[in-house]
Amino acid sequence: MLHAQAQKKGSLVNELPAWQALKEHVGDIEKTHLRDLLHDEARCMALIKESEGIYCDFTRQRVTQRTLELLYELAEQSDLRGKINAMFNGEHINSTEDRAVLHVATRAHRNQKIMVDGRNVVPDVWEVLDKIKAFSDKVRNGEWVGVTGKPLKKVVAIGIGGSFLGPLFVHTALRTEPNAMRASRDRTLRFLANVDPIDVARALDGLDPEETLVVVISKTFTTAETMLNARTVRSWLIERLGPDAVAKHMVAVSTNTKLVKEFGIDPDNAFGFWDWVGGRYSVCSAVGMLPLSLQYGFDIMQEFLAGANNMDEHFKNLPYQDNLPVLIGLLSVWNVSFLGYGAKAILPYCQALSKLAPHIQQVDMESNGKGVDINGVRLPFETGEIDFGEPGTNGQHSFYQLIHQGRVIPCEFIGIVRSQQSVYLKGEVVSNHDELMCNFFAQADALAYGKTPEQLRSDNVPDYLIPHRVFTGNRPSMSVMLPSCTAYTVGQLLSMYEHRIAVQGFIWNINSFDQWGVELGKVLASKVRTVMNSARTRDRKVLPQDGFNYSTTRMINKYLEGKTQVLYPEGHDVFPIDMLRAGH
Ligand code: F6P
Repeated sequence: MLHAQAQKKGSLVNELPAWQALKEHVGDIEKTHLRDLLHDEARCMALIKESEGIYCDFTRQRVTQRTLELLYELAEQSDLRGKINAMFNGEHINSTEDRAVLHVATRAHRNQKIMVDGRNVVPDVWEVLDKIKAFSDKVRNGEWVGVTGKPLKKVVAIGIGGSFLGPLFVHTALRTEPNAMRASRDRTLRFLANVDPIDVARALDGLDPEETLVVVISKTFTTAETMLNARTVRSWLIERLGPDAVAKHMVAVSTNTKLVKEFGIDPDNAFGFWDWVGGRYSVCSAVGMLPLSLQYGFDIMQEFLAGANNMDEHFKNLPYQDNLPVLIGLLSVWNVSFLGYGAKAILPYCQALSKLAPHIQQVDMESNGKGVDINGVRLPFETGEIDFGEPGTNGQHSFYQLIHQGRVIPCEFIGIVRSQQSVYLKGEVVSNHDELMCNFFAQADALAYGKTPEQLRSDNVPDYLIPHRVFTGNRPSMSVMLPSCTAYTVGQLLSMYEHRIAVQGFIWNINSFDQWGVELGKVLASKVRTVMNSARTRDRKVLPQDGFNYSTTRMINKYLEGKTQVLYPEGHDVFPIDMLRAGH
C-alpha cells in the first residue's frame, strides 16, 4: 500500500513512493503486448473517454488499469490538484519570473472572476477584446482605411515564437472551415516571422502597401528578429506611402506600451496583454485575437475562445479519471519517464491541423525542456519530449517507416468526424474524407499489432523477405476524434494540449512557464552582431582578439569572403527585389 503523502518541498518526484512503484510496475508491462491488451474488453472500455464532444481512445497505450491507478497515485503525491488550483488562482507559479500563469483568463467568459494579485483581471481582458472587436469591425467594413483611402484587406502579422506559431496554427485550421471561409472572402492574412530577408520578400510579395495593415506582435517589443522585421516593413510603407502611413497602416500587440510608442505606433492603436500570459500560451490574447479577428471577424474568433474556455473548465473541475488533459499528461509521463520513449509524433489526419505540430513543438519543448526542478535542483531524469509531426497521410510517406520498424515513438492520432470539405466521387468506394480516415484507423492498429513471421508465411511471403517485413508491434498511440474542425473545437484542442503539457510539468515538478534556455542564444547572437558590423563596415577580417574560438573565427571569415563591404549610412534602404516589384 502506497502512502498518499504529498511531495515535500525540496524532494524530487522520483523519490516518491508512487514513482518507485511505477518503476517496478514497468516489469509487469514489459511482459504484455498490445495485441493481447486490446482483446481485454473491460480494459478497453475503461480506457476510452468521451467528454466535451471529444472522443479519446487510450487503449493502445502500454498500460493496464493498475498503471492508471499508480499514475493517479503519482498525481496525488505530486499534488497535481493543488498545482492546477494554484494556476487558476493566479498564484505566482512561474517562480523564476515571479509571475502568475493565467492564459486561461484570456478566454474567460465576461462574467467569470479570475484574480491576480487581488484583482479580477477578466474585465481587463474584455476591455482589450472589445477594442479588438471594434477595430477589426472597422477595418473589415471599410470604416478604417489606409492613408490613400483604400480599405485594408491584407494583413501582415509580424512576430516570432509564441507571437507567431499559435496564430499560424489557428489561421491554418480555419482557412477552409466554411463559416470562416465565408467571413474571410477577399481578405488575406500573412505572417512574417524569420529575420531572414527571404521571409520579408515572401510575406510582402504581391502586396499593395496601400491596402496593407501591419500588426507588430511582440510581448516584449524587444525581440531582435521581430523588431528588425518591423523596421523593415515600416521603411517599406514609408518609402511608398510617406511617413503618415505608419499611423494608419501599423498597429501593435504588446505588453510594452512605452516601446510601442517609441517605435512610432500610436498607443491608441496598440492592443495590450499582461505578463501573466506566457508568449507560447498567448494565442487567445490579442496576439492571436487581433490578426485572426481581422481575417475572420470577431464572432468566429469568440467561438474559438469559447472552445478553449470549455476545456479550461473541464481541466479545472473534472476528476483525474475523466479529465482529458490530466489523462494525456499522465500517460506521457509514463511513456517518457518509465518506458523511456523520449519523443512523440503529433499526427492530425486533417490538413487544416497541419500547423498543430509546429505550434506544440514550441509550447511543449520550451515549457518542459528543463534540466532542473522548480527549486533549482538538477534532475536525475530527463523531462520534456521531442515533438514532431505531419498531417496524415503525408507523414505515412515520410517518417512512418521509422515509427513502424525503427524507434518506438508514441503517436497521437487526431481525426475529424465531419470534414471541413467534402468530396464524393461517383464510382469511388468511399468518400475522400473516408479514405483519409481509413488510414487514421488502420495506422493505430498496425502500430499496435505489427505483423508476425507466421502471418507473413501464411501470406506466402518468401522466406528471405520475412525478417524485413516483420513488425514487432506493441507501439503505443492514442487516438483522438473531434466531431468537426471548427473555431470551437480548435479552441478545445489547443487548450487540451496546453494543459496536458502543464500536467507533465507539474508532475516532473519543473517550471513549465519560463524559458531561460532561449536567452542563451539571444546573448550569443548579439556578440557576433557587434563583430559583424565592424568587419563589414571596415572591410576587415575577424581577428583572434575578437574573442571567438578558432572554428567560429574561421567560419565567419569564410562567410565574409563572399560578402562586399557595407557602407553605412547608405543613401537609401535596400529591399529584396520582390518587394520593390510589389510596391510598384
Ligand atoms: O522564442 C522565445 C520567446 O521568448 C517565446 O517565448 C516568445 O513567444 C518569443 O520569444 C517572442 O517574444 P516576443 O513576443 O516578446 O517578441
